[in-house]
Amino acid sequence: MLRENLPAIPDLADLELVAAVAEKAVGVKQLLRDVARDYAPAVFANSLGAEDMVLTDMIWSEGTQIGIFSLDTGRLPTETYELMARAERHYGRRLEVFAPRHDTVQDFVTGFGINGFYDSVEARKACCHARKVEPLQRALAGKQAWITGLRAAQSQTREKLKTVSFDSINNLVKISPLTDWSEREIWVYLRANKVPYNALHDRNYPSIGCAPCTRAIQPGEDVRAGRWWWEAPETKECGLHLVDGRLQRIEKQGTAA
Ligand code: ADX
Ligand code: SF4
Repeated sequence: MLRENLPAIPDLADLELVAAVAEKAVGVKQLLRDVARDYAPAVFANSLGAEDMVLTDMIWSEGTQIGIFSLDTGRLPTETYELMARAERHYGRRLEVFAPRHDTVQDFVTGFGINGFYDSVEARKACCHARKVEPLQRALAGKQAWITGLRAAQSQTREKLKTVSFDSINNLVKISPLTDWSEREIWVYLRANKVPYNALHDRNYPSIGCAPCTRAIQPGEDVRAGRWWWEAPETKECGLHLVDGRLQRIEKQGTAA
């Protein structure tokens, strides 16, 4: 998916686009309220990326009863920790943070080396499992639904993403309310609503994960070209978004009732 625009270029002069995004936002906020009502307790997995700041704003500004948590892998960029603190100040709320288990991280480091994730896909997946997937399982325990900021246009592994699906690995409903949003629409929402965002986005990082596994992209490159850039595009998922142990390749369909 090629990058359509850089976030530093504001789109707010296009009033039709601003109005269309505001209209779309009304639908997403309604979906979030429906999820809070029908699938309590529901939680939102917040990576603090641009999409996730849109959802954070929609949930915290409206007081929707959806818990928000982040997975602190221990290897996040300084700018992401800085955004966590800024968002907490902005909304007057505390983010719930899940850390990895110290023993699984130590086992990874003993087996593969501190930066062993560069050496093989197997090592990279083992690190993502210890630092993200296992903490995610703890964060989702006892929940009826989880919400993500995934968009279909982000990558070839996500093109058939559904807004609502059943996550059979974690055994709960999975909702991705921004499935059909474009990157441009995300940025219109962030700017129109003065939502805090990661300083790295202004330095050509459209997609941000852990510091050692994320880099800036060149104009015209794929939005996820800076994630695990040494791997083939089809392996570039960390394991948070697998279906039956495989990458998500499921039919596109509508939204929740
Ligand atoms: S990743 O799987 O490649 O890391 P990406 O960064 O695009 O994913 O984020 C996709 C969605 O996964 C986010 O919108 C968020 O819901 C969830 N997610 C990813 N990383 C985290 C994190 N560190 N904490 C909480 N949720 C996360
Ligand atoms: Fe480890 Fe990199 Fe995965 Fe972060 S993104 S958990 S550092 S392999």
